[in-house]
Formats: sequence, C-alpha cells, structure tokens
Amino acid sequence: MHPERTPLLADAPRRDSRESDRRAEEEDAALHNTPLPTRTSRAREIALFTWALLATAAVIVLAVVVQHGRTTNPGYPAPPPQAASKKSNGKKNLVFMVSDGMGPASLSLTRSFRQVTEGLPIGDTLTLDKHFWGSSRTRSSSSFVTDSAAGATAFSCGKKSYNTAISMLPDFTPCGTVLEAAKRAGYATGLVVTTDITDATPACFASHVYYRSQGDEIALQEVGEGVLGRTVDLMLGGGRCHFLPNTTAGSCRFDDVDVTAIAQEKHGFTYVDDRAGFDALALGKNVSLPVLGLFATADVPFEIDRRNMANVYPSLSEMALTALTALEEATKDSDKGFFIMIEGSRIDHAGHVNDPAAQVREVLEYDKTFKLVLDFLAKSDTEGVLVATSDHETGGLALALQAPGELPVYNWHPSVLAKANASSEYLAHLLLERITTHQGDTEDELRHWIKTDLVRGYLGIHDALEVEINALASNPAAAIHTFARMVSLRARIGWSTHGHSAVDVNVYSSGGPGTERIRGNVENTEVGGFLRDYLKVDVDAITKELRQKMKLGEPPLVAEEIAAADFGHSLEWMMEPSL
Ligand SMILES: *[C@@H]1O[C@H](CO)[C@@H](O)[C@H](O)[C@H]1NC(C)=O
Ligand SMILES: *[C@@H]1O[C@H](CO)[C@@H](O)[C@H](O)[C@H]1NC(C)=O
Ligand SMILES: *[C@@H]1O[C@H](CO)[C@@H](O)[C@H](O)[C@H]1NC(C)=O
Ligand SMILES: [Zn+2]
Repeated sequence: MHPERTPLLADAPRRDSRESDRRAEEEDAALHNTPLPTRTSRAREIALFTWALLATAAVIVLAVVVQHGRTTNPGYPAPPPQAASKKSNGKKNLVFMVSDGMGPASLSLTRSFRQVTEGLPIGDTLTLDKHFWGSSRTRSSSSFVTDSAAGATAFSCGKKSYNTAISMLPDFTPCGTVLEAAKRAGYATGLVVTTDITDATPACFASHVYYRSQGDEIALQEVGEGVLGRTVDLMLGGGRCHFLPNTTAGSCRFDDVDVTAIAQEKHGFTYVDDRAGFDALALGKNVSLPVLGLFATADVPFEIDRRNMANVYPSLSEMALTALTALEEATKDSDKGFFIMIEGSRIDHAGHVNDPAAQVREVLEYDKTFKLVLDFLAKSDTEGVLVATSDHETGGLALALQAPGELPVYNWHPSVLAKANASSEYLAHLLLERITTHQGDTEDELRHWIKTDLVRGYLGIHDALEVEINALASNPAAAIHTFARMVSLRARIGWSTHGHSAVDVNVYSSGGPGTERIRGNVENTEVGGFLRDYLKVDVDAITKELRQKMKLGEPPLVAEEIAAADFGHSLEWMMEPSL
C-alpha cells in the first residue's frame, strides 16, 4: 500500500485528494503552458532551489539599488500627470467604486487565475494591483463585522453607524450624504450597480431609513420622493421589482404604488427596463438625464452566467461606460462635474455562496471596469479622481485548504475554476427547474442527469462522489451550497463563513489631488471624508435639513434588535450541510 494514501477517515467515503490534486496540477500547468517539475528528480529540485536562492539574492540587490535611486518615490505608481495639463478651473469629476465583499484574498485569487488561464507570466498583475493605495478598517458602531449598510454609511456620510443603517446614525437621526450634497452644489450624480438599486450600498447615497430591508421606501426616496427631492440623475442596475406595483407581475412591493410612473411623471426620468432600452442609450451618447435603467427583476446574473445572456443583461463595464459618458456630456457646459458611485455588487454574493468560480469572474469584470474608469478620466478634459474600496470582506476566503484528515497542501488549483462554466446559483436554478418539469423521473434518472449535465457538463468535474450527487438530488434547496463546495474543495479554496468577515480591505486610487490623505491604513470613514472634501461640498447642511424635514417613524427600541435583523443570514443554503 502506498504510504501516502493511508486513509485517516477510512470509513468516510471520500475523494482521492492526492490523485485529484495531481490531476489539477497537470491541468493548471497545461493551461499555463509550463512543464510540471517531476517529483523523481531530486537533483533537479536542489538545482532549482539553489537557483531560486541566487535569484532571490539578485532581486534583493536589485531592489536595494533601485530603492536607493528613488528615495523620494515610495514605489507606488506616480499620480497621473493630469492635474497640470487639465484646466485648473476647479471643475472636478469624482468616481467612487465599491467592490462589495472583496477582500485581499480575492485579488490573489483573480491574479493567479488570470495568469494560468491566459498564459501570463508570474509577475503579471491586475489593473487594481497597479493602483494599490492602502487598506481600510471596516468595523461598524455595532459590530466588529460590518454589513454593507453600515459600510456604505461610512462612505456616504463619513460616519460610523450600526449594521442595517441606511445613512442613519446610531442615535437614529439621518446624516446627509456626499451624493446629496454634491447634487445640491450643482454636480450631476449617478449610481451604477449589478444588484438591486435599492440594495444597501446604493441606498446609502440617496435615501435614509432605519433598516436596509425597507426597499419599498428606499425606491421612493431614490427617485425623488424624499424631503430633499430628486438627488440622483442616473441610476443603472437591477432591482426593478421594488419599483413596480404589487398588482404587476415581477413586483416585490408590499403596496400598489407604481414607482416607475412617479419617477417618469413627477420627476422627469427616462425609464428603460430591458436590453433594447439600454442599447438605445448608445453607451451614454443618447441619454437625457435623469435616467432610470432597471435591467433585472432583482440581481443582474453573475458575470460567469451573464456573458451567455448578454442579449438580455448589460455588464457592469457597459453600464459604467454609459454612465460616465452620459454624465460628462450632461456637465460639459457646467462649471461643476459629476459624482458617481459604481459598485461591483455581486463579488459579495459569490462570497456568501462560497462560489470561487463565480467570484473570480466578478472580480475580473470589476478590474476591467476600474481600468475603463481610469482611461476615461485620463482622456477627460476635466480633473478627475478615482477612489475604490470594499465595504468589507465576505466568506473568509482562503487560498489554501487543509481538508479533514489530510496533510496541508502547498497549492491551489485555478484550472478547477477555469473549467466551471456556470455559477452554483445558476446550476441550483437549473436543478429546481428540472425537478419541476420532470416530475415523472426516477431518482436514478435525476441523479444521472445531475452527474452528466450539471456536474460534468457545466463544472467539468469528472470525479464526483456518490454522496455529492445524492446530496444534490435529495436536498435541492441546499444545492447552491453543494455545487460551490464541490468546486472549492477540488480547487483547494477555503471559506470560513457564509457571512462577512472583519479583515481590512484594500483601497485603490488613480492618485491625484488630495488622495495622499487616504494612503496607508485608514478608517472607512476617512474614505467618506475624502469624497466630501475632494468635492468641497457641505454635507452638514444636508444633515441639518434632513433633521428638520424628515418625519421618521418611531425609532427601534433596542439596538440589538437591529443587529439581529441582519436578514440575509436566515437563508437555508447558508447553513452548513451534512455533506
Ligand atoms: C397590494 O397593496 C395594497 C395596498 O397598496 C394592499 O391593500 C393589497 O393587499 C396588496 N395586495 C397584495 C396581493 O399584496
Ligand atoms: C435615442 O433615444 C431615443 C429615446 O430616448 C430613441 O427613441 C432613439 O431611438 C435613440 N437613438 C438611438 C440611435 O438609439
Ligand atoms: C463550457 O461551455 C462550453 C460552451 O458553452 C462547452 O463547449 C464546454 O464543454 C463547457 N465546458 C465545461 C467544462 O463545462
Ligand atoms: Zn454581504
């Protein structure tokens, strides 16, 4: 018997992990076009080690020399030479990007994935990596682990608050936001997301409610029904269901208010709700503000799935380009520019599901959008700054996994993610659909279909265990989790939670006037402070006005109730299955 293969959990049915790792390594290498080191050649290993040692020494020497040559340059990319060449007439554009739920590990994941799948050298980095600025501490006033609501309130108001707060403070009074103050000062404003436009992050810029779950009220305030009137000129994303009356198919409102009608008739919005409507915007060249574009009932599908449905849903980068072009055009004769928040919303969702194959494509699309914004600002005649960060990390993502009863393995396998063609969300949807439409099928027929069509066909997994297939067939409600786990285990990706984590998140920037202030390790409220101060807008005046005019219902009695109301955590698939 091979000594390495003594099963420690002999009674548990399990994959042959070593064999699976070996195969994955070969596939990683094949994708990357690099030969694998053979395990038998000890001399070769020693030679390589010696070489590595010498190479490291050479790199250190080189680094010292280089560092010496530029002691005044901290080694970050220099701010773009735009400030001087652009009209210094005080006109400014500010782009704030949020990568919801993206922690530092997501960057390493995506960077390595891209190197392997595109055959790029080891030193190849993402555009984000090239604009690394520092890190942000994320805790909220009520918890070490924030939610997106408190996270976005730190950005929008520059203040810490409790989990679930939508631009409300711990004393349950509203706080003015940078977007509202920018609008008041004459800037054009926009919000672009891939989830509901009423979700916590966008909501925090243009509405004020006690709980993030008050989506119906958030929709009304976002189109201009709040005490400040209309403050957003452009909204693109998902979440149409909160804007349709409960008498309409595809509504998720509790009342019969037609928010799309109010937006158009009372507040002058152009409303588009499908791909044809998006295409008519001509990537921003045919937009009259204000515009409301809601392209999905709730979430826009994960990018890994959306790319096969591009005739139905626009991508984050397409929406971002449309928004930037439209806002620039709308402000071309103004002495004020624009403020926009662009969110890669569903990096967080992939983290909640623990689905690394979905997440890596979300981050790639976010990186592409980040580059697009940089290029846009560089080309613009107006001074502009891009700042990007995350509200928190999601999933406790780790790029290593020691399975129970196994020794540590010093590797993870991007090729496993490369083979996965669909998100576990989409596969779980296909499974439920199949069960509904094939009620006459036997258990065996269902299991066979799962194994061949879903697991092999979409995930490229050929060594599925019987317990895995059985779990999918017998507990389809938890299938989203089971699919994600099958991918993660084989790729050796670890997760510590289906919720958020407290790790510091990265800050990125184009550089430019004032951005030195958010270098290094900062509090998330400092990022909010930067946004306000860069635009030189009076957020406090907005706070005062909100406090005078808003008629809020009774504030919640106990803060703990709010923390407990973190509704996302009650979903069944978030429970660890017995698999
Ligand atoms: C729709 O909303 C109205 C109030 O606006 C309510 O009376 C009615 O019960 C709702 N219908 C449904 C099916 O929820
Ligand atoms: C521009 O938008 C209008 C609607 O606002 C639409 O009727 C027209 O077809 C669009 N033009 C193009 C070239 O898509
Ligand atoms: C991925 O999808 C393509 C086309 O949709 C298909 O040809 C390919 O076999 C799929 N690969 C896997 C591993 O699912
Ligand atoms: Zn989340």
